[in-house]
Amino acid sequence: MAILLVADLPADEHDLWLRCLREAMPGETIVADRSLADAAAIDVAVVAKPPPGSLTGLPNLRFIQSLWAGVDRLLQDHSIDPAVPLARMVDPAMNIAMAETAQWAVLGLHRRFFDYQAQQREARWLQHDQLRADEVQVAVLGQGQMGSTVADRLRALGYAVEGWSRRSGMPALAGLLARSDIVINLMPLTGETHHFFNRDRFAQMKRRSALVNLGRGGHVADGDLLQALADGQLSRAVLDVFHVEPLASDHAFWAHPHITVLPHIAAWTDARSASAAVASNVARLRAGLAPEHLVDRSRGY
Ligand code: GLV
Repeated sequence: MAILLVADLPADEHDLWLRCLREAMPGETIVADRSLADAAAIDVAVVAKPPPGSLTGLPNLRFIQSLWAGVDRLLQDHSIDPAVPLARMVDPAMNIAMAETAQWAVLGLHRRFFDYQAQQREARWLQHDQLRADEVQVAVLGQGQMGSTVADRLRALGYAVEGWSRRSGMPALAGLLARSDIVINLMPLTGETHHFFNRDRFAQMKRRSALVNLGRGGHVADGDLLQALADGQLSRAVLDVFHVEPLASDHAFWAHPHITVLPHIAAWTDARSASAAVASNVARLRAGLAPEHLVDRSRGY
């Protein structure tokens, strides 16, 4: 049997993945070009942003491993047989990278480093008040692997951190948003969380609080975010993800004085550590065990 890699990535990154996967699974045949293997021999697909339709015509496909933690795009691809088990990427190195981004954003917001950066461009010497970390309430929305690592590491920095997931219920969310200075989004993107951050949600948030979106662009209604910033309801947004990526060069977010844009790098999938995670799941499959971190399609993640 053979493993097919389908990754819509720049050539050098694609080659790195192929090399790391082959090193992690020396006993497996791994191809990145479908014409190099008999379609019937392919039983596993390892995918990163696969173009829609790229997994059709594989009659013996029995497992799909995502190289991305978020599987929203894969679940929207109706050419993928929903009966084939699909696993999310769960990699401790990625969780830590995500926590580093969250720590940077929270420190920058709390200590006003983003404002000082802007002040420097204007040669403006202005000292702002300093709160203690324990006086800053941080809400982490999404309590999966990444959300919990982020919450733990922010707590270790001394912040007042509270986690929330949809299981905690909407009444709890309203109370948390009303008292949080910083809201970090790490929820999966599903039908239920699409445009979760809209006008009504921003209105529930504490006045002059900040949004850090490390989930998906689809979680945020862009126009409502711009309005909440214009109204002063939100003080700042730090965004790593967007509806359309790369973010168009004429998008209002780029030049906005109160938006910090990152090019979807909050937690890069590391080819070395993630290949080990793939190898472990493939080994489980070959041993007749269920792969880990399978997606529950009814839940949407
Ligand atoms: C990146 O956004 C991922 O889902 O891994």
